[in-house]
Amino acid sequence: MEFENIKGVIFDLDGVISNTSRLHSDAWHQVADKVGTEWTESLSNKLKGVSRMGSLELILQASSLESHYNDQQKQELAHDKNKDYLRRVENLTKNDILPGIESFLESLKQNHYGLALASSSKNSARVLEKIGLSHYFSEIVDPTKLSKGKPDPEIFATAAKLLRLAPEKCLGIEDAVMGIQSINAANIFSIGIGDKNILNEAGIVFENTELLTLSNIRSHFDKK
Ligand code: BG6
Ligand code: MG
Repeated sequence: MEFENIKGVIFDLDGVISNTSRLHSDAWHQVADKVGTEWTESLSNKLKGVSRMGSLELILQASSLESHYNDQQKQELAHDKNKDYLRRVENLTKNDILPGIESFLESLKQNHYGLALASSSKNSARVLEKIGLSHYFSEIVDPTKLSKGKPDPEIFATAAKLLRLAPEKCLGIEDAVMGIQSINAANIFSIGIGDKNILNEAGIVFENTELLTLSNIRSHFDKK
């Protein structure tokens, strides 16, 4: 695969562009306390990239509680979590952009790459607005229009289509294992942000967003 063939970059949001993974996690922690599920690092990691209702199910399943709540009660728990999350989102500023991301987006724009957002979050437009990065993204996948969430390829495949690019011409960037699986299944080259032992299915892994630069990506392709 040639670096020169890449024409578009598709981003996850939470944990890649903004430090909002922590906000989701803090809000879910409250729900876990309410239902009596022990909050662990491993449970928190499992929820990354998972939809709102999917995350609630995982929290309930962790204590075999899924049948203790009816649909309406589950809707209420998810609604409360979202209210709590949105309250936290209102305090976001440019300082919540992860290190190096704004200059990376700027260099992509200067070099005429197509940019798309592939987040499972229904709140992504609000988050982008709060951190002042909306103008970089010509295409934002609407997760309510998808039939399957990550790790299904649908969300990344849709983003490539919105950019009018073949998947082979795109890069996908994710911090969650299921997100990397979604990118790979869409036949898009995957870049993981985080621990290389956890994100071992990614094409390249950078330990943090500061390392995410065009020249670092290019040098990976040149080495091959
Ligand atoms: C993902 C987050 O981006 O979006 C998950 O990693 C979150 O933690 C999911 O549950 C859905 O977000 P929202 O904002 O629609 O509840
Ligand atoms: Mg993420």
